[in-house]
Amino acid sequence: MSSRREEDTLCFFINGKKVTEKHADPETMLLSFLREKLRLTGTKSGCGGGGCGACTVMVSRYQPATKTINHFSANACLLPLCQLHGAAVTTVEGIGSTKTQIHPVQERIAKAHGSQCGFCTPGMVMAMYALLRNKPQPNMDDITEALAGNLCRCTGYRPIVDGCRTFCQETNCCKVNGNGNCCMNRGNQTDETEREPPQLFDKDEFLPLDPTQELIFPPELILMAEKETPQTLTFDGERIRWVSPVSLEELVLLKTENPKAPLVMGNTNIGPDIKFKGVFHPLIISPTRVLELFEVSHTPTGVWVGAGCTLAELRSLLQKLVPQFPEEKTELFRALIQQLGNLGSVQIRNVASLGGQVISAYPNSDLNPVLAAGRCKVSVISNGGRREVPLDQNFFVSFCKTILKPEEIIVSVFIPFTRKGEFVRVFRQAPRKETSFATVTSGMRVFFSEGSRVVQDVSVYYGGMGATTLSASKTCAAIATRPWDEETLSRAYDVLLDELVLHPSAPGGKVEFRRSLSLSFLFKFNLEVLQELREMNVIKEELPEKIQTLPRDIQPGLQEFQHVSKGQSEQDPVGRPIMHRSAISQATGEAVYCDDMPHADGELFLSLVTSARAHAKIIGLDMSEALRLPGVVDVITAEDIPGVKVRESFGYQEELLAQSEVSCVGQIVCAVVADTREHAKRGAYAVKISYEDLPDPAFTVEEAVEKSSFFEPRRKLERGNVTEAFQTVDHIYEGEVRMGGQEHFYMETQSMLVVPVGEETEFNIYVSTQWPSLTQETVAETLGIPSNRVTCHVKRMGGAFGGKVTKTAILAGITSVAAWKTNRAVRCVLERGEDMLITGARHPVLGKYKVGFMKDGRIVAADLQYYTNAGNVVDESLLVAEKIVLHMDNAYNIPNLRGSGAACRTNLPSNTAFRGFGVPQSLLVVENMINDVAMVLGRPAHQIREINMYKGPSVTHYKFEFSPENMLRCWEECKVKSEYSARRRAADQFNQQSRWKKRGMSIIPIKYGIAFAESFLNQAAALVHIYKDGSVLVTHGGTEMGQGIHTKMQQVASRELHIPPSKIYISETSTNTVPNTCPSAASFGTDANGRAVQNACQTLYQRLKPIREKKPKGSWESWVNDAFFEKISLSATGFYRGPDLYMDWEKMEGQPYAYFTFGACCSEVELDCLTGDYRTVRTDIVMDIGRSVNPSVDIGQIEGAFMQGLGLYTMEELKFSPSGVLYTRGPSQYKIPAVCDVPLQFNVFLLSDTHNPHAIYSSKGIGEPVLFLGSSVFFAIKDAAAAARSESGLVGPFTLNSPATPEKACMACASPFTQKIPASKPGSFKPWALNI
Ligand SMILES: Cc1cc2nc3c(=O)[nH]c(=O)nc-3n(C[C@H](O)[C@H](O)[C@H](O)COP(=O)(O)OP(=O)(O)OC[C@H]3O[C@@H](n4cnc5c(N)ncnc54)[C@H](O)[C@@H]3O)c2cc1C
Ligand code: FES
Ligand code: FES
Repeated sequence: MSSRREEDTLCFFINGKKVTEKHADPETMLLSFLREKLRLTGTKSGCGGGGCGACTVMVSRYQPATKTINHFSANACLLPLCQLHGAAVTTVEGIGSTKTQIHPVQERIAKAHGSQCGFCTPGMVMAMYALLRNKPQPNMDDITEALAGNLCRCTGYRPIVDGCRTFCQETNCCKVNGNGNCCMNRGNQTDETEREPPQLFDKDEFLPLDPTQELIFPPELILMAEKETPQTLTFDGERIRWVSPVSLEELVLLKTENPKAPLVMGNTNIGPDIKFKGVFHPLIISPTRVLELFEVSHTPTGVWVGAGCTLAELRSLLQKLVPQFPEEKTELFRALIQQLGNLGSVQIRNVASLGGQVISAYPNSDLNPVLAAGRCKVSVISNGGRREVPLDQNFFVSFCKTILKPEEIIVSVFIPFTRKGEFVRVFRQAPRKETSFATVTSGMRVFFSEGSRVVQDVSVYYGGMGATTLSASKTCAAIATRPWDEETLSRAYDVLLDELVLHPSAPGGKVEFRRSLSLSFLFKFNLEVLQELREMNVIKEELPEKIQTLPRDIQPGLQEFQHVSKGQSEQDPVGRPIMHRSAISQATGEAVYCDDMPHADGELFLSLVTSARAHAKIIGLDMSEALRLPGVVDVITAEDIPGVKVRESFGYQEELLAQSEVSCVGQIVCAVVADTREHAKRGAYAVKISYEDLPDPAFTVEEAVEKSSFFEPRRKLERGNVTEAFQTVDHIYEGEVRMGGQEHFYMETQSMLVVPVGEETEFNIYVSTQWPSLTQETVAETLGIPSNRVTCHVKRMGGAFGGKVTKTAILAGITSVAAWKTNRAVRCVLERGEDMLITGARHPVLGKYKVGFMKDGRIVAADLQYYTNAGNVVDESLLVAEKIVLHMDNAYNIPNLRGSGAACRTNLPSNTAFRGFGVPQSLLVVENMINDVAMVLGRPAHQIREINMYKGPSVTHYKFEFSPENMLRCWEECKVKSEYSARRRAADQFNQQSRWKKRGMSIIPIKYGIAFAESFLNQAAALVHIYKDGSVLVTHGGTEMGQGIHTKMQQVASRELHIPPSKIYISETSTNTVPNTCPSAASFGTDANGRAVQNACQTLYQRLKPIREKKPKGSWESWVNDAFFEKISLSATGFYRGPDLYMDWEKMEGQPYAYFTFGACCSEVELDCLTGDYRTVRTDIVMDIGRSVNPSVDIGQIEGAFMQGLGLYTMEELKFSPSGVLYTRGPSQYKIPAVCDVPLQFNVFLLSDTHNPHAIYSSKGIGEPVLFLGSSVFFAIKDAAAAARSESGLVGPFTLNSPATPEKACMACASPFTQKIPASKPGSFKPWALNI
């Protein structure tokens, strides 16, 4: 068996075309094969580890036994190419294209405005497409399940769900639309004389779904499966051999000879291990064609399920079996179905195998605890024969290890029937409701003697409470043979507490929470079992309330916006909900992102080598091994930089490549260039850096403050006399709140391609950046050449959110050195983990405050101190600190207000701009302070907010005059639209009746300053060409990152030139068409560039005036043609100077903003106080954005920003080790909101009849402001936690830091179970993660 045999040919189909690979490399995943070999770049890479869904494709296989075709969605990044023999793969390109016909799924997601940056869109499309292939008329549960594993960072999911919802047959009633009526009936209710409310899209124009039009399964593959006798397949790659046997005997033989070789089934464990942990296996055995591993056999006591069956197959098998047997026999089946529904995503469950799950023995495996509690066993085979092994506490030996011998193969798993009087339940709590490994997970079973409450047998297993699945056997012993009652269970909790102890430094952290969950789950089990006993008439007593699951049905939301004025011409698109101009190409996968660009001749790939130490001298850099590796061309160090090696900002220096010292883990030291991505990565891995640690790195804000480690200057603002005012108040309260950072998690990681033109040091740079000019300047400086040799091109970005400004420029600088040195094109695309490690995040903040207020709720004085964790380099931290203090008044007129902002210099990766630029941190502290005032006074928080709001003509704390009228209108309208008072009463009533679940509400205002305080950044320019055929090319300085700026610019040009948008094209943003651009940031893109485009178009329109007057009946094309022959220039630049803003920090006054965008948001949550799990049941947002240029784009920004804020304040946690190493480097560890987090009712209202003289067409900037309104969910959780605390007799202010994760929410609820957990003494142990 071990002798090498000739390689086989891999044969499969992609999009109906046959692919035969003579040299299939076992290390190649389908994703890279599609993208790099076939140039099918529609399938995107967002994480490479199965966690984001961007790479979703559909795989179809013919099953000869049943003569059926099985279609399923899968993550191409984890699908080994060699696994695909005999399969048909469908990618986004295969279902529709603009060249032929687009598919209804592509059309509906695009037209429902479900595609902003578009990077997630092909994955969404394919997830939905695979669902429709199996179920052409799905229900909402099917849809939310199908999309659960697909992340989108832009849209907030609502429009994607709405687009997909159009395939449902259910009535799409929202049940409530603010006035208690169904939104679907709106048409009937309007006065005949009024116009129907405008809609974001018209579903009547959608193409029907016609399943007969889909690609057929290739008949050749059916023949192949039916006719050919399966043969062992062998594929040899550069380093790895892949063998796919077809019989069990052969498999056993292979495994006996190669006990260390893994059996690759779903590759969802082995794949990530190879990719992220550098595990290497020279031989891989793929038993997916061994039929014995897929057999299902029934016995009188249960069912044997083949270990090769996927988790999806197991689930549907059990779902089929449940109705065939009496309920009492299927307790375990039903528990497994429930757990399987929560495990991973559909894409993962479609490939991950049962045997793989069991033997992987993850500490927090979801199935193993329930399989073990349910008395399952496995049948294993080896050359020593077959044996059955029970899945009990002896099976799981240690971290990812079982009792099985390396050569043993699990053939099947036995799942027994349950008996009468036997109950099985599963409980699970995860950082996110779906597609997330559990924090703690459990399976519990109890068996009662007939008609008795005496326990005959009980088993309780936990995941997440140690290195592997653990049995709580002592706890079970304390319950067995005793009656199931209060006394037994109370003792059991105490035994469990002693039995499952986690060390305070336990990996994964959350120690107290995990311990408390173990108790809560047993308590929940108790309640459910009591209910069962009661239903069986075994017990008669009144039972405590049953804990229902949280609500989960997403209803259609309302999006209310104004009509354009009645007189507006039909052709004029301004003010109309025009679809994002690239949405269709994004949905078909045709839209080109940086890494989709074809390879240039001789192109190299660059991989970065980063510091592994937080603060150290570099004493050696050994690149010899790297240089010896195949494909490696060079290693680029600081010495290679021909120009400026150090960037200077705000008086601080930053090295592009570290030379002698490093100041954080993740700092870039050098870079390896090689012929392929893989070779470059291997080269980077082989570079050895030796360090000499330097003393006392500072990681936390507190450590930095203690060392006075700040980036200067620190900023301060004061109005009134705070010190004196504190003498006059009724109450003084001091508090603090800590807020974590936030990873940008743009779906497209940092990407660039630097191409030397070949003469006079000219370079073309294709890059995903918000600021092309900065990248151009950085590259020019780094190479020591003038800017006129460097052209930056930005077609589009797959999201940016502030993270693609400064950091991209540095990466482009490094990549350009490689291109310059090698004289070859060099591509650099960061992996998700590298991107998260290297490029920084939103600044974490510690906010401290002292507030003085009167009995009636008036705040008279407040003193706030903000400390941001800036990291090791200044970047934009000083500007962030400035924006923090400028916004610290939010909506409130506090007469004596003082605040300071300090950027702490630490040994963490440098943090950078992120949507909101400090405002979300600033305002959380202010609103938390207001909340505390309300709690001290025992009054509702909204009243304290109202009492203190700006009213009438107002002046901010930096002496800027403004009118808060529209802010107050938003507030009032939000109260009305959300039915705040009635729902508040209902929530209070709910809380009185519910012990373990609480509802919480909050309503939060915002006043957000628009434009750059640095006046020069507010300028913009445009270049507009009219070609002789009448088509128009618009270029401007704004970059498209999904926010729809190109769509809006097209609308502006269309209005100004009086031509339809279809005649106008925007190709890219480039520094050789519009020079010296400003970043697309500060919510000012449309304001600035819109005016510049308007200016250019007006110039051109004016130039055409004489021609139009000569031929008033002529067409646009004829005027343009005539103008050419009359030698009128058909090209014009446009310029916008921008407002002259300033801030005088000495005098503490200025006009740093052009105007304010206002809004208000009300959210309600339901919180499970025992687990911290919560659901946002409703959110209503009212925004004043003037007269929207494009309501669909603006509502998209509102919803997307809200969801990003919801992530910031309730979910997203960056975790660092005590030595400053970032743990959270991908979607498996860092949870951004998914479709399961969308508020169940999500309504957005644009304030009507508002105008803004300061921006184009009376609009307002909206990109950033709403992010802060995500905090309404934070405060609603806090409100619910306060209600829970009152059950334990705790009243008054309490600390809840952001994000209010299930852990923090649960611990804040102070339930009897959390209170049982002894707190570890701070300082007595080294915590697993830092509190930065
Ligand atoms: C994004 C993502 C999310 C996930 N979420 C969850 C979650 O929420 N909950 C959860 O519990 N798990 C989760 N998982 C883990 C997943 O369920 C397991 O990785 C999966 O079940 C392993 O099965 P596989 O077929 O992919 O294993 P593979 O990766 O193919 O193989 C894994 C190991 O099992 C061995 N093996 C496989 N089959 C056999 C057999 N028959 N006999 C002997 N050895 C065998 C292999 O040798 C190998 O060592 C997640 C994984 C990913 C990637
Ligand atoms: S790239 Fe495959 S799931 Fe993220
Ligand atoms: S549109 Fe979904 S990630 Fe940008």
